[in-house]
Amino acid sequence: MPRKPIFFLGFLLSLHLYFLLCYADPGRNCSKTSPLVGLRYEFTMAQHQLRGVLTILDDCSFRVSQFDMLPGSDVHWWGAIAPDFANLTAGFVVSDHALNETYKNASFVVHLRQNVAWDQIRVLALWDRPTASDFGHVVLANKSSDSAPSLPVNAEPTMFENCKTLSENYRIRWTLNADSGSIDIGLEAATGIMNYMAFGWANPSSTSKLMIGADVAVAGFKEEGTPFVDDFHITEYSECITSLDGSVQGVCPDTKYEDSDSVGLVNNTQLVYGHRRDGVSFIRYQRPLEPVDKKYDLPVNSTASMTVIWAIGSIRPPDTIRPYYLPQNHGGPRLVAYGNLVLNVSENVDDCLGPLDAGDKEDQDLIIADASAPLVVMSGPALHYPNPPNPLKVFYINKKEAPVLRVERGVPVKFSIQAGHNVALYITSDPIGGNATLRNESEIVYAGGPQAEGVQASPMELVWRPDRNTPDKVFYQSLYEKKMGWRVEVVDGGLSDMYNNSVVLDDQQVTFFWTLSKDSISIAARGEKKSGYLAIGFGSRMVNSYAYVGWVDETGVGRVNTYWIDGQDASTVHPTSENLKYVRCRSENGIITLEFTRPLKPPCSRDERPECKNIVDPTTPLKVIWAMGARWTDRRLSERNMHSVTSSRHVRVLLMRGSAEAEEDLRPVLAVHGFMMFLAWGILFPGGIVAARYLKHVKGDGWYKIHVYLQYSGLAIVLLALLFAVAELRGFYVSSVHVKFGIAAIVLACVQPVNAFLRPKKPSSGEVNSKRLLWEYSHVIVGRSAIVVGIAALISGMKHLGDRYGGENVHGLNWALMVWFMMGALIVLYLEYHERRRRRDRIFGRSNFVLGNHEEDDSLDLLSPTGTLAEKESQQSGRMEVQLEPLNR
Ligand SMILES: *[C@@H]1O[C@H](CO)[C@@H](O)[C@H](O)[C@H]1NC(C)=O
Ligand SMILES: *[C@@H]1O[C@H](CO)[C@@H](O)[C@H](O)[C@H]1NC(C)=O
Ligand SMILES: *[C@@H]1O[C@H](CO)[C@@H](O)[C@H](O)[C@H]1NC(C)=O
Ligand SMILES: *[C@@H]1O[C@H](CO)[C@@H](O)[C@H](O)[C@H]1NC(C)=O
Ligand SMILES: *[C@@H]1O[C@H](CO)[C@@H](O)[C@H](O)[C@H]1NC(C)=O
Ligand SMILES: *[C@@H]1O[C@H](CO)[C@@H](O)[C@H](O)[C@H]1NC(C)=O
Ligand SMILES: *[C@@H]1O[C@H](CO)[C@@H](O)[C@H](O)[C@H]1NC(C)=O
Ligand SMILES: *[C@@H]1O[C@H](CO)[C@@H](O)[C@H](O)[C@H]1NC(C)=O
Ligand SMILES: *[C@@H]1O[C@H](CO)[C@@H](O)[C@H](O)[C@H]1NC(C)=O
Repeated sequence: MPRKPIFFLGFLLSLHLYFLLCYADPGRNCSKTSPLVGLRYEFTMAQHQLRGVLTILDDCSFRVSQFDMLPGSDVHWWGAIAPDFANLTAGFVVSDHALNETYKNASFVVHLRQNVAWDQIRVLALWDRPTASDFGHVVLANKSSDSAPSLPVNAEPTMFENCKTLSENYRIRWTLNADSGSIDIGLEAATGIMNYMAFGWANPSSTSKLMIGADVAVAGFKEEGTPFVDDFHITEYSECITSLDGSVQGVCPDTKYEDSDSVGLVNNTQLVYGHRRDGVSFIRYQRPLEPVDKKYDLPVNSTASMTVIWAIGSIRPPDTIRPYYLPQNHGGPRLVAYGNLVLNVSENVDDCLGPLDAGDKEDQDLIIADASAPLVVMSGPALHYPNPPNPLKVFYINKKEAPVLRVERGVPVKFSIQAGHNVALYITSDPIGGNATLRNESEIVYAGGPQAEGVQASPMELVWRPDRNTPDKVFYQSLYEKKMGWRVEVVDGGLSDMYNNSVVLDDQQVTFFWTLSKDSISIAARGEKKSGYLAIGFGSRMVNSYAYVGWVDETGVGRVNTYWIDGQDASTVHPTSENLKYVRCRSENGIITLEFTRPLKPPCSRDERPECKNIVDPTTPLKVIWAMGARWTDRRLSERNMHSVTSSRHVRVLLMRGSAEAEEDLRPVLAVHGFMMFLAWGILFPGGIVAARYLKHVKGDGWYKIHVYLQYSGLAIVLLALLFAVAELRGFYVSSVHVKFGIAAIVLACVQPVNAFLRPKKPSSGEVNSKRLLWEYSHVIVGRSAIVVGIAALISGMKHLGDRYGGENVHGLNWALMVWFMMGALIVLYLEYHERRRRRDRIFGRSNFVLGNHEEDDSLDLLSPTGTLAEKESQQSGRMEVQLEPLNR
């Protein structure tokens, strides 16, 4: 059929014509009456790395050029009357042109819809409809009445004249202000929030070691998210060190080299703007070309080609010793983590095509809900809300601003809602919230509602149990205001499902999970904030602890290594080879989770290797500490592997009971228990015995009264102290040596009054009553062994105290106790000596030495109420002794 191709051509032509006509928008009167026509604007970046220039062509179209944007889901041109939250969300679509891809330096013309005119639009935004999200906008201000043809170029802080790619993830943008003698520099990197960006000029006179003598700016974000930039001067390839003589060397802030009073002089870089969006850090600062401070800053010759150096790496937050943000050594390879190039700042360069696309765009904190602790829901100012525009106040969960919340199907989530009476929490399928019904949209409400509101004084409890039908992604929002909350991730079976117990370690930064089995324990730990590695340790402090470090190595494999730490620096972290099984470590959005199973007792003898002493005893509290930091390696460790955050004290995890107690000072009730026991076993009981033994020669039965009073009051105190301990520990656990000794001592002490009650009548003088004699022996023996066991209980109690609360403070007490008993023993020796002499004098004096076994003699002596009787009895007992002797052996 010969006509077909012609027909086809005709079709193509008509199509072409149709498109041409369409483009010209034939039905429209595209005049140029609006005062905005011809004006040029720059986009304000809100998200998605949006940059570009907008020019109004006529009454119904505009041109967009140099346009960069990361894709959204359903992005439209959006008109509103003001750039605030309420007016932007109440805006409308102004064009049929949709934006559905990544834009890289794009240029195109956009036509407004038929019924839309410029005077309806004060703010033109790029709007993602499903998430009510502003990617960027321009405010269409009328040009000032005078002649200025268009608004100033590069007025937006994110817009510069020039851009140079330093590495795949790092760019420098700049605008030279030759007239004012300054240069504006923008550093832009797709890197972690805790990383620094450094850029500066090398010393022109140095050729090989470019860093030495360089004048660089170090920029980054503080913990609370505010940007900073500091002027640094490099004198040495090392971290900033102050030597003993006060001289400063290394990569140090300029201010460090000078005394504090000259701070003004050395401060050369000035922060202009900074933000962190989509996982990209951006900081703009200004520095003079000709430095104020000649000593540590280099002049920049704007027309010369000069060598510049750059680096990115992790930053060390200030501490008391070094109160400024310090860049750590950039570990990575050349041209990824650091590099140098020759730059002529007058030359126009732009080799940055398209937006930086960070792999991890989410900076939000991740909160993982476990069944144990309720999530505290409050409201607070929006500082870094992930999805602008946002209302003034947004939700805070566990003090983190609009975090991603992860929950597990089947595990109830408890909320403690205290966000104010005008904020009601609900869990919804709608990403925007604020009651979708009022926006004529449908939503599914999973929990919460108008009643889910409360204040701090009377929080409202809300329990939500996600079930198998809950979708993977829902939202927590306020019922009365849009966009106060953020995303909820619903997952199947997490750690709290797999482990029987969990506790939160010190500072609520690490959660510790475990399951005990007969001879092994499975342990998991999860950091609650972003880090490069997570370490948990068994021990009360880092020094002398067994550490388990989990991290994900360069190849993306999760690793867990074990260490024995016996000092403060990197060289004292000794790798050990513990017998770990089922080892897993993963990092999700920087949240590290490590898991392993280990035997309770290492299968080696105690003194072979240090880790052989790392025994987990389920009946004694396990002291657990933690640390997090930027990077770990299984090669040689260096200072940069040291932690940046760590627990401030250990938590004692009660493995059997599934709970934890924070380390605290000696608990008052236990202190009282200890003191009372000391009073009884250290003073009253021995006092009573001493009275019975050495005060007999005093006239009357004074010694007897003293003996009885002391022993009874001692016994009362002991029972009271026992009650205290049982009440404080909420139960009676016969597990430790201390408790065993204590119980034995108390039983012996209780036997005494009973057998005193059963005491046979004292024989009249001269008689021999074997029953009485037997009783006297048993009373003495039981009493004295009670004292011995009681003292043992005191000492083991001290040891217990030492185990629980760490050595130092208990050490002193232990010594005091020792000294006390030594003194007691000396006094007894002295008294004994006197008693012997007294007695011997008496016996010799009467020349009445009969069958004299003096030692045994004494024991009977004890119990005779009067001195004279004792004398007689002593003779009798002498005789008795002979009879008793065989019994003893
Ligand atoms: C187009 O606009 C001009 C000036 O505003 C006006 O004179 C003309 O009538 C308009 N034409 C149409 C078709 O609206
Ligand atoms: C935003 O809109 C409200 C009415 O919805 C109005 O009262 C308010 O003034 C507007 N804000 C600005 C900045 O124009
Ligand atoms: C975006 O939409 C246009 C038509 O509006 C289409 O031609 C283009 O392929 C789309 N791009 C993507 C990445 O979907
Ligand atoms: C710009 O000027 C027009 C008239 O000249 C006026 O109607 C409009 O409100 C002005 N817009 C702004 C944003 O001032
Ligand atoms: C640096 O100097 C500027 C003015 O030149 C001043 O505003 C700023 O506070 C100074 N910063 C410091 C840290 O001294
Ligand atoms: C700056 O560099 C240019 C070209 O290298 C040179 O001619 C000029 O003298 C230099 N200016 C200063 C102040 O050093
Ligand atoms: C630097 O660039 C400017 C502007 O392009 C030029 O005039 C100057 O000669 C350049 N300097 C060098 C050393 O190439
Ligand atoms: C972007 O496009 C402009 C022309 O619109 C061109 O001059 C410029 O070199 C381009 N930039 C890049 C990085 O390709
Ligand atoms: C949203 O508002 C409508 C109308 O006031 C009301 O019927 C509905 O219950 C509200 N939704 C929720 C989740 O409270």
